[in-house]
Amino acid sequence: MPDTLNLLTLLQTRNSSPKLTSPAPTADELETMVGAALRAPDHAWMRPTRFIVIEGDQREALGRLFEISLLKRNPDADENARAKALGAPLRAPLVVVVTVQLKDHPKVPHSEQRLSAGCSAYALLLAAEALGYAGIWRTGDNAFDPEVARGLSLSKDQEIVGFIYLGTRTGKSKSLPTIDPREFILHWTP
Ligand SMILES: Cc1cc2nc3c(=O)[nH]c(=O)nc-3n(C[C@H](O)[C@H](O)[C@H](O)COP(=O)(O)O)c2cc1C
Repeated sequence: MPDTLNLLTLLQTRNSSPKLTSPAPTADELETMVGAALRAPDHAWMRPTRFIVIEGDQREALGRLFEISLLKRNPDADENARAKALGAPLRAPLVVVVTVQLKDHPKVPHSEQRLSAGCSAYALLLAAEALGYAGIWRTGDNAFDPEVARGLSLSKDQEIVGFIYLGTRTGKSKSLPTIDPREFILHWTP
């Protein structure tokens, strides 16, 4: 396992990678990453996030689910669109579907539970990078399609937060945008 990066450097330099290949994080490393992701802020410790692991042949099955769902949304989808849907999960050796299991709580609205799961998805990416891997958070129509949710056996109160594609970066990492934080800091004048 490579040395973990300095935390601030990791936060400042994390960079998504659309091109991913093997190796992917091992089962042990994935457990470590999920443990880190579960340290996301979580109002009332509701633990709303679930991680569905898809690897190997399961990625092909997920591609078939994406294609079937596409055809239900758009029966006229052309060959290109169908091939894209079918091949989408093969863009990485490991796909983790981050989901949120929503519950009613007197103090924690669903929006806060979704935010917590989003933080977990981000932490998963950070943990992957800390271990020397790379990833990218994707959604698209599949993340909001009830047919995909059914195919993944989600419960009726469970939603997809994102498909986190994970593996080893191929090619050069893209250059980071230059951002001036001062442009994003607002000062309130009461
Ligand atoms: C909720 C969410 C959904 C996203 N969905 C997609 C997507 O479907 N396809 C895609 O190419 N990028 C998507 N992105 C953006 C990438 O994950 C990534 O942030 C972007 O390519 C910028 O790269 P960077 O993270 O290195 O700055 C999404 C990001 C978020 C937060």
